[in-house]
Amino acid sequence: MMETENRKILVVDDNLELAEIVSQFLEIQGFQVCVAHNGNTAIRKISSESPELVLLDLKLPDIGGSEVLKKIKEIDESIAVVILTGYGSEQIAVELMKLGASDFIPKPFERDVLLGAINNALKIRHAQVEDKKFQRYSSLESFFPFLAHEIRNPLHAIGGALAIIRRRSDVNDEYLSRSIKIIQEEVAHLNDFVQECLDFVRPPTKSYFTEVDINEVISIVMNIIAHMSEEPSKKIKVVTEMDPQLPKVYGNYEEIKRAFLNIVKNGFEAMRDGGEFAIKTYTRQNPSPGWIEAIFIDHGEGIKKEHQASLFEPFFTTKLGGTGLGLAICHRIIVERHHGKIEIESERGSGTIIKVGLPIHQPPENPGGIG
Ligand SMILES: Nc1ncnc2c1ncn2[C@@H]1O[C@H](COP(=O)(O)OP(=O)(O)OP(=O)(O)O)[C@@H](O)[C@H]1O
Ligand SMILES: [Mg+2]
Repeated sequence: MMETENRKILVVDDNLELAEIVSQFLEIQGFQVCVAHNGNTAIRKISSESPELVLLDLKLPDIGGSEVLKKIKEIDESIAVVILTGYGSEQIAVELMKLGASDFIPKPFERDVLLGAINNALKIRHAQVEDKKFQRYSSLESFFPFLAHEIRNPLHAIGGALAIIRRRSDVNDEYLSRSIKIIQEEVAHLNDFVQECLDFVRPPTKSYFTEVDINEVISIVMNIIAHMSEEPSKKIKVVTEMDPQLPKVYGNYEEIKRAFLNIVKNGFEAMRDGGEFAIKTYTRQNPSPGWIEAIFIDHGEGIKKEHQASLFEPFFTTKLGGTGLGLAICHRIIVERHHGKIEIESERGSGTIIKVGLPIHQPPENPGGIG
């Protein structure tokens, strides 16, 4: 994950010359840089430029550095702030660390001290952002069942009432029939959504682990998708290259099927204009023996670089009707529950390759647990 290109730093210093030197140096290091010469501009630029890090001079002509720091943290807590201090203001700087500053550098400073402090602060920021994601993720575990319950009960009632309306209404009223159909479809859509949310948080069901033939799963999935998909996908030509010697893997058949279905569905959805969709299976010796791999190659629209880091996040979607749970569920199933791997390579405009690796045998639940 090379993110240096997108890393934006806001340099806040009223010393124009210093701000210029620092900016130039940071740009050479591959950062995007913006500059503010006073506190108010700095605060404005926090919102308009969304930097990841702020280099903040403590002494500014309009408002104090600590005031600016507080404002920054109010706007976005995750922005890293490195303080630049003049002689003798270390004491204040320490106070500022308590307010959320990541580090401070006494002036004058060497370039590599500056760079070291920046990289360090960015590393910490990154870890914090990841932690936050995890916290949100884990709270979905308790939120989804609640949501499902709250949505399903009324849906059930709507479905029941609708059945009565349908039975009692004039079948020749086309307008009415069409409206009923819309309600039915939307109810089904919500039901599916709730089911997806539940699937996402459902605890692993190790008891359903059996020997699974991945080639067979893929052929079932392709059957399902052929029935499911709409008009444009009729233009998609599916090419398969299955390893006939592919060993079975120990896993949950239904879960693997669901993961593959999500991947294939995405591939089809990305190929609105048709094209070739290839699936291959292999037995793998690398990096270690005992693995199989299924590769899904579409020649669709591809994935934008800036989206690639978010694909597995629950609810990340670029589609109008998408829930953004497809790949999050895949990750859960393949990586967390089957100890496998998913790799995505994509080129905007030319297509996407998804490699799913699965170990043939699951690692023991309790390694070395004797007695
Ligand atoms: N094969 C692909 N080609 C292009 N973009 C893809 C592909 N697979 C995934 N994506 C991108 O990743 C996003 C997330 O995919 P994911 O399957 O998690 O959700 P979704 O397809 O948007 O919604 P859902 O699967 O819940 O209906 C998609 O919105 C799309 O932008
Ligand atoms: Mg999807």
